[in-house]
Amino acid sequence: MKGLQNIRNEILRLKGERNAIILAHNYQRGEVQDIADVTGDSLELARAAAKIDCNMIVFCGVDFMAETAAVLSPEKTVLLPAPDACCPMAEMITADQLQLVKSRHPDAAVVCYVNTTADVKAESDICCTSANAVAVVNALEEDEIIFVPDRNLARYAARFTKKTIFPWEGFCLVHDRYTPEQVSMARRVHPGAVVLVHPECRPDVIDCADYVASTSGILRLVRTLPNKEFIIGTEIGILHRLAKESPEKICYPLSQEAVCVNMKKTDLVMIRDALAAMEPRITVPVEIASRARTAIERMLAL
Ligand code: 13P
Ligand code: SF4
Repeated sequence: MKGLQNIRNEILRLKGERNAIILAHNYQRGEVQDIADVTGDSLELARAAAKIDCNMIVFCGVDFMAETAAVLSPEKTVLLPAPDACCPMAEMITADQLQLVKSRHPDAAVVCYVNTTADVKAESDICCTSANAVAVVNALEEDEIIFVPDRNLARYAARFTKKTIFPWEGFCLVHDRYTPEQVSMARRVHPGAVVLVHPECRPDVIDCADYVASTSGILRLVRTLPNKEFIIGTEIGILHRLAKESPEKICYPLSQEAVCVNMKKTDLVMIRDALAAMEPRITVPVEIASRARTAIERMLAL
């Protein structure tokens, strides 16, 4: 315990020396969330990265999130303490593959989920997150939309628009594994509990849910709904923040196995070491960054 407190103190000291802020995604380990300046969903963290005045950002999440921060704030040093923390879904499409799809649908706009590499963002018209995918799709002039890489988020957005959506067949290894049978079983075990799921879940799971929301949307729903019990269909790291912010509510994970191994790679020692060494740094080549920034800023402006 004393060792942990020492590491926390070192992080706070180094943070001050470097004029750094720590951003942590809602799926991070509890101790990482507890030391962060901002904990949030992808949209909130992108906004914080763009807005907060500092010299350095320590990104506790996965690589595309740190890349997004680097694209939005090229003057800041962006550190990713766990350099191999990646999002397998973001790697399911390359810029070359996207160019090929674009050539097949020349009249379509390209919406890329923020879970993409900067190269793919640079080939896209606008970015979106799980919190604003529907609004982004409906804000575009075009009637045809190429939506990459998450097939489930694409099909979720398609429920709320008249536009034709061409989904890429990528998926999240964690959310795509939930089944309607798990939802029925959880409802049997916890009758009356409200089922909240992330839009990265499959359509048949979404059909069984009471609400569909981003990670911060789920936090908000638990806080504001009058109900007491909830079944949570997203990565279990969110349970830490739910317990902290809504201690009077009871939240059950839809599956204990919903763990994103990449989100769990960052720990306090890595954060301390990254701040001390000022690496591993995330940088994006200027030309890619400038085109990717257009897509991200267009989303932030909505
Ligand atoms: P949120 O933007 O909802 O936090 O989701 C990010 C993510 O990677 C979900 O798997
Ligand atoms: Fe990527 Fe899924 Fe992990 Fe989110 S939970 S970072 S989409 S693999």
